[in-house]
Amino acid sequence: ADFDLLIRNGTCVTAADTFNADIAVKGGRIVATGTDLGTADREIDASGLLVMPGGIDSHVHLAQPSAPGTPQMADGFETGTRSAIAGGTTTVIPFALQARGENLRAAVAAYHEKARGQSYCDYGFHLIITDPTPQALGQDLPGLVESGYTSFKVFMTYDDMVLNDRELLEVFDCARDCKALVMVHCEGYDAIRFMTEKLEKAGKTAPYYHGVSRPEVVEREAAHRAISHAQLVDVPIMIVHVSGREAMEQIRWAQQRGLNIYGETCTQYIALTADDMKGFNMDATGGKYVCSPPPRDRDSWDAIWEGIRGGVFSTFSSDHCPFFFDGPDGKMSGKGKTSFRWVPNGIPGVENRLQILFSKGVSEGRISLNEFVALTSTNHAKMYGLYPKKGSIAPGFDADLVLWDANREETITQAGMHHGADYTPYEGQKVKGWPVMTILRGKTVCEEGKITGSLADGQFLPREISPYAAK
Ligand code: URP
Ligand code: ZN
Ligand code: ZN
Ligand code: ZN
Repeated sequence: ADFDLLIRNGTCVTAADTFNADIAVKGGRIVATGTDLGTADREIDASGLLVMPGGIDSHVHLAQPSAPGTPQMADGFETGTRSAIAGGTTTVIPFALQARGENLRAAVAAYHEKARGQSYCDYGFHLIITDPTPQALGQDLPGLVESGYTSFKVFMTYDDMVLNDRELLEVFDCARDCKALVMVHCEGYDAIRFMTEKLEKAGKTAPYYHGVSRPEVVEREAAHRAISHAQLVDVPIMIVHVSGREAMEQIRWAQQRGLNIYGETCTQYIALTADDMKGFNMDATGGKYVCSPPPRDRDSWDAIWEGIRGGVFSTFSSDHCPFFFDGPDGKMSGKGKTSFRWVPNGIPGVENRLQILFSKGVSEGRISLNEFVALTSTNHAKMYGLYPKKGSIAPGFDADLVLWDANREETITQAGMHHGADYTPYEGQKVKGWPVMTILRGKTVCEEGKITGSLADGQFLPREISPYAAK
């Protein structure tokens, strides 16, 4: 036969075009699109379905250890990437976390150990810099960037991760020199501590007060500070997991001034609200929704859509960071019961990202199909140095595809999930639009929720310098 695989009669969608064509695959890559392409060993009939580039989720946390004696993350690579492919995502970029005092190269090696032979989908790594020593910034980081770890994240909050302003400037300067893209977690450490102590003194310790302790103004202030530092150093930055109007407007303001500031938003900021953290009458179930920045109110959903439609946000990610809810290792176990301060931050969502954005975005008429593909795949590939290998449907690209039923109505339930966690914060949400088949480099890895891929399928992706970092 001419090809390994032919996907026939589908409606192909890229960030730029929508067209009816067959897709021919050979050696894991797309080699042609069109009609009457030839013969293939295997054919898939995609009649009535959309064929889109597989999702790329550039913000997921897998296998990150928490402090001993505190709840540990519910997904390693096996269950996390299983959940990804079940949701139509074929590439994830999780984080290799440098613990304070840890050598950066050793941190990267440790995450490779966790991922090798344990991933259903392709993966790269961002670094998390918590200890910007001269060794880390002067030697390790430039070398790691050359080896394909071309982006890293820094935090403006969390006791064990926060960088002060001086450290942020040093890291930004280093990123500028080695053309790495910096992702910044923008929430102000001191303001959160101040608010947390005040709330605890007043006996306000339920999960709901997690959101009260870090309101939008805290995110806005940090976003502005990060933008100012980036301008001072003349480095592009990506402000991640933007939750609402305040931070969105800071990024838009910077972009309008011609600064190279980019924005990411996530599923939870169009699908959850602060009220979810109230649970049933302020009980522990509110802990299911605790993440940072916290979900805001319904008005802020509108602000996020404004940012999505206006191009303020280039990527839409899950910030998948799963914990168990029940049991001895659950979110509300141990000290979590005594105060929101100890409830681990993060929620699962890698499996539901496409479903929810498609449903609220495309099915409800807020964005086009092409914008959907840009936000879930193409822009991630371009932003993080995976383009033109990943992120589109054209000859030369990896044959990473999701076959999608735009009309299928489903309800998200934990029973249908493939992740390791014991709950989904999106339980009961109704969506229109659902993945039917996920294809990784020409191999069907998930069909109708059934995993057909293997843990040997996922490959490590060294990434090119981001064209957005090198501006
Ligand atoms: O609550 C969250 N998002 N936890 C994950 C870590 C982070 O800041 O992205
Ligand atoms: Zn320098
Ligand atoms: Zn973060
Ligand atoms: Zn995150």
